[in-house]
Amino acid sequence: MKIIKDDTGNILALLKENGPVNEMKYNCVEASFEKHLPQFIVKGDRVDVVVNHVMEDDHYIEWILVDYLDCQVIKHFMPGEECVLNTYYKEGMVAYSYCNKHGLWKNELK
Ligand SMILES: [Fe+2]
Repeated sequence: MKIIKDDTGNILALLKENGPVNEMKYNCVEASFEKHLPQFIVKGDRVDVVVNHVMEDDHYIEWILVDYLDCQVIKHFMPGEECVLNTYYKEGMVAYSYCNKHGLWKNELK
């Protein structure tokens, strides 16, 4: 396992296998029928971050990550599970989702 950190000591990633490291590029605009962008459903001081995507055995959202800049929350999913991360609301929060077939997606709460 590799643990990647930046110059200030922040842990950036835990890698299961040794090997070359590549930065993931994200998409911000839906370009197909399938939905990948995380959506925010604010409920007072809480928010459901939802990706309305199929959760089939060979095609599903592997995880949602919410970035609050000073900390992050991540939830992993398995096929068949509901793709929702319930967390606290904060202005400017950013969410990422990762589809096993279509890659990384990003949306900001405006
Ligand atoms: Fe997908």
